[in-house]
This record gives sequence, C-alpha cells and structure tokens, in this order.
Amino acid sequence: MEFKTIIEPFKIKSVEPLHISTEEERKVYLKTAHYNPFLLTSDQVIIDFLTDSGTSAMSAHQWAGIMEGDEAYAGSESWLRMQHVIQNLTGFEYILPTHQGRAAERILYGNIGGKGKIFISNTHFDTTRANIEVTGAEAIDIPIAESKEPSLLHPFKGNMDIEQLKLQLAKHGKNVAAVILTVTNNSGGGQPVSMSNARAVSELCKEFGVLYILDCCRIAENAYFIKHREEGFENYSYEGIAQEMFRLTDGAIMSAKKDALVNMGGFLAVKDLELWEECKNTLIIGEGFNTYGGLSGRDMEAIAIGLKEVFDPGYLKYRIRSTTYLGEKLSALGVPLMLPIGGHAVYIDAKAMYPHIAVDQYPGQALAGEMYLKGGIRAAEIGSVMFGKYDDNHKLIPHTMELVRLAIPRRVYTQSHIEYVIEVFADMMKNKDSVRGYKITSEPKFLRHFSAHFAPMG
Ligand code: F0G
Repeated sequence: MEFKTIIEPFKIKSVEPLHISTEEERKVYLKTAHYNPFLLTSDQVIIDFLTDSGTSAMSAHQWAGIMEGDEAYAGSESWLRMQHVIQNLTGFEYILPTHQGRAAERILYGNIGGKGKIFISNTHFDTTRANIEVTGAEAIDIPIAESKEPSLLHPFKGNMDIEQLKLQLAKHGKNVAAVILTVTNNSGGGQPVSMSNARAVSELCKEFGVLYILDCCRIAENAYFIKHREEGFENYSYEGIAQEMFRLTDGAIMSAKKDALVNMGGFLAVKDLELWEECKNTLIIGEGFNTYGGLSGRDMEAIAIGLKEVFDPGYLKYRIRSTTYLGEKLSALGVPLMLPIGGHAVYIDAKAMYPHIAVDQYPGQALAGEMYLKGGIRAAEIGSVMFGKYDDNHKLIPHTMELVRLAIPRRVYTQSHIEYVIEVFADMMKNKDSVRGYKITSEPKFLRHFSAHFAPMG
C-alpha cells in the first residue's frame, strides 16, 4: 500500500528556535526596514523564503564530515573526495573548487568573455549576466516563448528556443564565447529543461564549434522532472539522468549552495585541460590554491557528501512534492501563480493578484510587505523593483512580469510550517483589494532591490 501522505524523509536532531512575533511588532520592524524585506534581521522573520541558496539543513552525515574536514593548504583529502564525486557525476576530469557559484562564473566568463563576445542562455541568472557584462561581453536570453506566459502549462518551460539558438549562432559565429543552459531555469520560475532540449543545444554547439556550459546548481531537481515527465527516462536513476546531461556539454558551473545541500561552496568543471589551466591561474590569484579555492576543508567534505545525498529518490520525491503541495494549495485559494510549479520555489504573479496596484507602485513589493506583516513570511520581489529601469524623464520602464518568489530552503521547514503559510495566504486573500502599493524613497545605482527604501502609498 502506498500512502498518499509524503512525510519528510528525515527526523530532527538539532533545532533552531523561531521567534514568533505579533503583527503589531512586525509593523514596527517593517517600517524600520524601510519596507524592504532584505533589511529585516532574521530573528524578525518567522518563515524565511528569501532564497533556497545556502539555507539547506545539513544531514548528520554532513555534520560528521565537517569534523573530518582536512584543512591542509595543499592536497587536502577533503578536496580529493569532493573532486572524485564531481568527476564521477559530471564525467569531466578537470575541476576547480570555488567559494560559491559566482566565483566560478567570474573565473570562467572572465577568461572567455570580453568586448565583442556573445553568451547565449535559456536565461542568464543575474550574477551570471553581471559576470559576463562586466567583461564587456553581451548576454542574450532565448527561453521558449511559452515561458513568458505565467498561467500557461508546459512540462519543460525552462527549455531554450532551438530555432532562436540556430539563428543566433549563425549570426554571431565565432564571437559566441559559450552557450549556457541553466537547469532548472531559476529566473524563469524554477522551470525544468528536458533532455531532448539539452541534446538539441548540444548538437548545435557541436555544429558551430561553440563551448557548451551547464549551470547545474539545481541539476538533481531538474533530473526529477525528466524522470517523471520525459519519455524514455522512467528507468534511469536521478544521478544517471544528471550524468547523461553533463555528457552532452563541455563544462559546468555549480553553486553548491543549492543542490549540494551545503551553506557555502561551488565548483567549475571542464573537459579541456588548457581552459582549466587558464582558469586555475585566475583562481589562485583571487580565491586560493586550487585544492581549496576559497573553501575550508570541512566545506569541501560536506559538498562531497551532499552531492550524493541530493540524488536520493526519497529526498527528491519529498522535495518536489512539497513545493508542488504549497503551490497547489495557494492555487486553490485563488492566488495567481507561475505554472506549472517549479522545483525550488513557488512564484506568485503579483500583477494578477493586485490588479489595482499600478506597476510603478510595485505590486510585488506590496505583496512581499503584506506577507511579512500578516504572517512574518519573507520573500523576494522579482519584478520591476529588481529589473525596472527609468527612461529619460525618470518614468519607470517596468519588467515584463511582477513576481514574488517563495524559495523553499531544503530540509528546513516541516509540513506544519507550510500549512501555516497557506493559512496566512487564505487570510491575505480576504482583504487583497485594500492592499496599497509603494513608492521608492531612496535607491542605490545598482542592484537596488537589496537596499532601496520604500514607503506605502497614502
Ligand atoms: N546560477 C544560478 C541559476 C543561481 O540561481 C545562482 C544563485 C547562481 C548561479 C550564483 O550562485 O549565489 O552561489 O554565487 N542564486 C541564488 C538565488 C542567489 O537566490 O536564487 P552563488
């Protein structure tokens, strides 16, 4: 008998207290934080959905590994174990450890980028784009058209547009420095990429002689979707699916803060020795010797263990099913979502939820504020606060979508935390028409979402 309740496939050995605040207290906290959830302190937050990055709970096995960490400057055994796991998973021989994903991005894209170079992706994550653009190169996003319609259902909404890729490769020829496939597509709603799409990208990259890189920070979650949605993979293991995807590419970048189930770390893996040598030099100058790359031995030990644990079928079933559960319950309440529900987060369409709030009064920021006030839930706006620009008259050029991301930390919250979030949303739906927008009262020049100040509209 298979029971329908999917329980957390772990029990809790160590606990971290939550500070349960009142709505009255949160009103003061939010005002003091200038209505920007990034400026709240974590003890003011009850449920923290700001990011799934670096927020995982490690297993007892990983914590034991922390004690086993070999802190040797050169030739650390923990590095050898991490390297071995990555070689086995990716099939690439040449690996470099980095302190997080963006360090690997800076090193690789700094080496192959530069003025006149083009990078093409299903969607570049913001740090990926920033590390490309800072070299003077251009980053082009070509997700499939279906990805831009929040309510449209598609099993692999993270796919790259293959026709567009062919056109772009033909147009830019040898100026294309790399094609980057991001799995799952974080900026596009945590949506998966199919193996057949990854294969089609591979064939074109081979035809045009272009480097093909996998941004694989959520590769295990992506493998889950392939096994259950794509024909021909039913009998593969999740790790086997990931290995197959790596085999199509020339290299990979990983922020281990996601699917390696650790709080810090990353790596760069490539097929080509020469490219590895160049990247190694940059790593040593800026991050550390190539047997630690800015990580402690204990961090590398935890990564070696986490990268194996994440492919456990029981874990992945619980992980994807619990994200879907939250999405389904919110949908049933009438909360408009980015569909289908992705792997690591539920994305709310704030423009559809608050149609009475104009985009220049930031419906996503208003929703993030309301979630915090009502339930102490913290989430990030992914809309015009994050991506909006101004025209010459200082009028907002809005982003295409006004989303709020409820990113779920791995193995951290239980079913009752999620039930609590659902109850908070049920309450929010009752008076949603009276929620007001915000105006920006001060903002920095770059990445304004992290530190801008807001005030509620009168
Ligand atoms: N690539 C993707 C697809 C990411 O989602 C991230 C980080 C990175 C690269 C950079 O990795 O943070 O270790 O330097 N995403 C986090 C998030 C920040 O909240 O989605 P990093």
